[in-house]
Amino acid sequence: MSILFICGGEKDGNTSALGRELLAGHDFDQIDLVDYKVYDYGQHFDDDQFDEVLARFKQADTIVLGSPVYWHDLSGMVRNLLDRFYGPVPEGSMAGKRLFFVFQGAAPTPAMLERAEYTVNRFAGLYGMEYMGMATNAREASELAKEL
Ligand SMILES: Cc1cc2nc3c(=O)[nH]c(=O)nc-3n(C[C@H](O)[C@H](O)[C@H](O)COP(=O)(O)O)c2cc1C
Repeated sequence: MSILFICGGEKDGNTSALGRELLAGHDFDQIDLVDYKVYDYGQHFDDDQFDEVLARFKQADTIVLGSPVYWHDLSGMVRNLLDRFYGPVPEGSMAGKRLFFVFQGAAPTPAMLERAEYTVNRFAGLYGMEYMGMATNAREASELAKEL
């Protein structure tokens, strides 16, 4: 089983740390979206790296998607990535993969957590992945880790 952790927070930041807690004891690859130029949906620049991220995504059996809470929601980097699937990635084409969600912030409200999880759950469903759940703190990460 190959695991890819896609982190949409700061390099070596809190999202990265929580994802690593979830993945403790497992081999995994990590992509930090801060290292990649994934432009907005509708932008077309020659140095865009969405295809590189997508290729890594396709290779993994299990995806851990990590986002900090920025402005009450997913980070822009994560949202851009989700947006960019729309079009080049056929619906259902990621069937067989599992998707875990790591989401943490300074003081997220239940409404923020619910809304972001709704988006990620729908993202998983649209592309045929099994949504496995969300961890928002270390306790939840150790619970969710049992599903890995
Ligand atoms: C631009 C920005 C917006 C933020 N907005 C929120 C917010 O709406 N709610 C919240 O709880 N934390 C908010 N935070 C705090 C971050 O979620 C928190 O510092 C988080 O741990 C950062 O994760 P990272 O180190 O992986 O980037 C915000 C931080 C930044 C930089």
